[in-house]
Amino acid sequence: MSCKVTWLGHSALAIDTEGYKLLVDPFLHDNPFAAADPDKVQADFILLSHGHFDHVGDTVAIASRTGATVIANVEIAGWISKQNNIQTHGQQPGGGYMHPFGYLKLTLAVHGSILPDGSYGGLACGFLLTTLAGEKVYIACDTGLFSDMRLIGEEGLQLAILPIGDNFTMGPDDALRAVQLLAPQTVVPYHYDTWGLIAQDPQKWAGRVEKETRSKVKVLKPGESIEI
Ligand code: NI
Ligand code: MN
Repeated sequence: MSCKVTWLGHSALAIDTEGYKLLVDPFLHDNPFAAADPDKVQADFILLSHGHFDHVGDTVAIASRTGATVIANVEIAGWISKQNNIQTHGQQPGGGYMHPFGYLKLTLAVHGSILPDGSYGGLACGFLLTTLAGEKVYIACDTGLFSDMRLIGEEGLQLAILPIGDNFTMGPDDALRAVQLLAPQTVVPYHYDTWGLIAQDPQKWAGRVEKETRSKVKVLKPGESIEI
């Protein structure tokens, strides 16, 4: 049990691993299902997948308060570092780096990335985290289905976190195909129900996935966690 992932609503996640606290896409203040207080949440690192407001969220405020290092593509890392002298680490899709909390690789994502003020946000990405204990967690972030998910699956995933909301990302049908390509031990759906436009039935999706694949589905409520 060296890695605990908590869903904070929408695409926001808190990851506790080996004593380090990570936040992923901390959109909390304007998130109707936020399960953490942006004025109190703790972080050593913040992982930012792309420039859209529902992912950048409270990153600047949280990093300014906590001193967390923001990890993102180099374009977003450059933009963040100019906001408030925030410590950043830039990577690019396909590139991995051994951080104190584990090895983090930026993965492809089929999605846009413009920043809230209209600045160029580089390429949207997902994350493949290999913990210090060797567990592999894939966080797809905002993306459509792409067949190279099979290559990510070949790494042997303990956990995959996939969007199912449709409209802006994969919907339930393509997310089921993603599970077939990724073959994770367990899959958690996210990026749904935040607004009516992305309303979905996660239990129905879970039933389909468990019938048609070997992966187990864990449907979380905001604030609930999964440990691997
Ligand atoms: Ni987006
Ligand atoms: Mn989004």
